[in-house]
Amino acid sequence: MSRLRACLVASALAAAAPGCDLAPDVGPPTEYRCVDDDTNAAVSVSWSRDVAPIILRNQVGCARCHDPARSNPVGVQIGGLDLTSRGAALAGGARSGASIVVPGAPCSSALYQKLLAGPPFGARMPLDGPPYLSATELNLFHDWIAEGAQDN
Ligand code: HEC
Repeated sequence: MSRLRACLVASALAAAAPGCDLAPDVGPPTEYRCVDDDTNAAVSVSWSRDVAPIILRNQVGCARCHDPARSNPVGVQIGGLDLTSRGAALAGGARSGASIVVPGAPCSSALYQKLLAGPPFGARMPLDGPPYLSATELNLFHDWIAEGAQDN
């Protein structure tokens, strides 16, 4: 059911429905507000130890579609994005280009944005989800970028 329809039904039933008030206009929903700050400045996140294994795994991973050596790698063919190494990932994809990773700014980085609900273009990744990445795994991508997307 669309949100508008849900709100119309709720108002017909005189039921309290959070988010259905038409006034005052307080702007778009803020269920998730992206923050660039490192979630734990005491811990440093490594590409090779923490991020790459998530990308390369077969379940809830990325390489199945973003490794040009696989059969039918649609993430490379359609998304233009090779994720098999840090260097290849930083080269960007068809839509992201240089915004694939903005060091220090995960909220502006397509590599992180595409892992969340409602990405700025295309679908949430992994494309064959759900399941999607866990909150801890999301933070690994987030913090690796927040810490400068180092070659570590
Ligand atoms: C089942 C196949 C599949 C899987 C698995 C997958 N992707 Fe994708 N990916 C695609 C396709 C197809 C596109 C192009 C369409 C789109 O952007 O939604 C894409 C696009 C992208 C883009 C945007 C590229 C650009 O610049 O246009 C990013 C970033 C991305 N994927 C990251 C990931 C990450 C990170 C994972 C793993 C957590 C992942 N993908 C898993 C198929 C997949």
